[in-house]
Amino acid sequence: MLSVDVWRGTREGRFQAFQVPRRENQTVLDVVTEIQREQDPTLAYRFACRVGMCGSCAMVVNGRPRWTCRTRVSEVAHDGHLRLEPLRNFTVVKDLAVEMTQFFDKWHAARGYFEPGPQPATNFATVPPATAERQAADAGIECIGCGVCYSACDVVAWDENYLGPAALNRAWTLVNDVRDQENDARLKAVSGESGCVACHTHMSCTKFCPKAIAPTYAIAGLKRAVLRRALRGRA
Ligand code: SF4
Ligand code: SF4
Ligand code: FES
Repeated sequence: MLSVDVWRGTREGRFQAFQVPRRENQTVLDVVTEIQREQDPTLAYRFACRVGMCGSCAMVVNGRPRWTCRTRVSEVAHDGHLRLEPLRNFTVVKDLAVEMTQFFDKWHAARGYFEPGPQPATNFATVPPATAERQAADAGIECIGCGVCYSACDVVAWDENYLGPAALNRAWTLVNDVRDQENDARLKAVSGESGCVACHTHMSCTKFCPKAIAPTYAIAGLKRAVLRRALRGRA
């Protein structure tokens, strides 16, 4: 049997203990689903794809943020114990489900969306895979928006306005997208005191990202680009 402590409540709450049978190849998400289906249907949590694509199942597992559908119990519960909490740095909706609105509002604030300009190209662009820009964009493009990096970032905990690693990583992929026409506005958007300059290079985002993305390096790239823009005299 696994002994599982699960956070119940919102900001205020308590841990509730459950016992769940061990099963072969069991994931942490399997454990939460079994509790909800077999023991307490009022338990709130979130998932969609179960295969590491949608980014909705992240939680804090034994003290560190993880995607739970791709985390096997055998990797994390060495003493037969799991402690499950909602992601840090998010408002808790209920139990293990968090509010993602602020997280995605920050993607928008960082202009983390493709801007083709007033006259979008009618043909497909040819972007050779070996170019530095293409490689920088490709390095961060597989982000699934899970919030693990945001949950792990101390600067987000200190400054609720900090745009955070995921939004800044997204901005960096677009800065390197040779088709995008609004990079000056994007660099301006990420250059404020709660933008890329606020990153303290703690590397927690890069250490915990389940997609092996390195937001720390993306943010370092943004810092250089913002500095170059300032040296050109742009306000
Ligand atoms: S490297 Fe920057 S964004 Fe990443 S966790 Fe550290 S402070 Fe946050
Ligand atoms: S950068 Fe990684 S940890 Fe952060 S939201 Fe994207 S996939 Fe998740
Ligand atoms: S359920 Fe979709 S990433 Fe885990």
